[in-house]
Amino acid sequence: MPHTLVAGNWKMNGLRTDGIALARELVRKAQSAKRYPQNRIAICPPATLLAPLAGFLMGSPIGLGGQDCHMAEKGAYTGDISAKMLKDTGCQYVILGHSERRSAHHETDAMVRAKAKAAIEAGLHVILCVGEDLVSREKGNPEQQVADQLRQSVPDNADPAHLSIAYEPIWAIGTGRTAGPHEIARMLQALASSLPSRPAAGLPFSFLYGGSVKADNAAELSRIPEVGGFLVGGASLEADSFWAIVEAAEVSKF
Ligand code: PGA
Repeated sequence: MPHTLVAGNWKMNGLRTDGIALARELVRKAQSAKRYPQNRIAICPPATLLAPLAGFLMGSPIGLGGQDCHMAEKGAYTGDISAKMLKDTGCQYVILGHSERRSAHHETDAMVRAKAKAAIEAGLHVILCVGEDLVSREKGNPEQQVADQLRQSVPDNADPAHLSIAYEPIWAIGTGRTAGPHEIARMLQALASSLPSRPAAGLPFSFLYGGSVKADNAAELSRIPEVGGFLVGGASLEADSFWAIVEAAEVSKF
């Protein structure tokens, strides 16, 4: 089975005091869990909290990730952060191609692909987001649309050990609506078969689901065989709800 991953996307939330308190509580939960977590777990706070949280998380089962990176290693890119800088700050992960960046920052598939390549070269594990909006869904065949987006966003020869794919229907993000289990399974099967098989790499790509994952729907979503974890937004801002999702994934995947 590919590695499963539960990642929290804090988005633009968290000042120093509450961000540190949340990370501290998650570490406490991880340490007091009956069994050492088998899934990989990560939190992706705003860039301002990466350095302060890196110290707290060191030696814990909780990894650290950025929410974006630039495709260049360094240079005259005011306001941007390179993959190498994330790595240098203590990150192991980076979220790329989130729909909020694709829409608000006009990120194209080609840009996401270049960023993913840079991130993998810097030694980060990429959480690459894809997903359809409601208009495209209603037009029919969202699988085709998302598969095209995925093929154009994944770098050539990307090793599944270094990249997970997060399927996040845009209409499900922050809305309280989730795709149904059958819809998710059908989409993930279509996405898996749209990528070239990579026998040399050993493992297939791991697929996460994201979009209104909560403590009370995580168990049902975890039982979808194609789902290899979650990318969690709103529910990752509170230790109890994020940890309930981590535990739901633990129960059904291990
Ligand atoms: P949500 O966000 O869980 O709040 O819907 C998910 C995401 O945007 O990654």
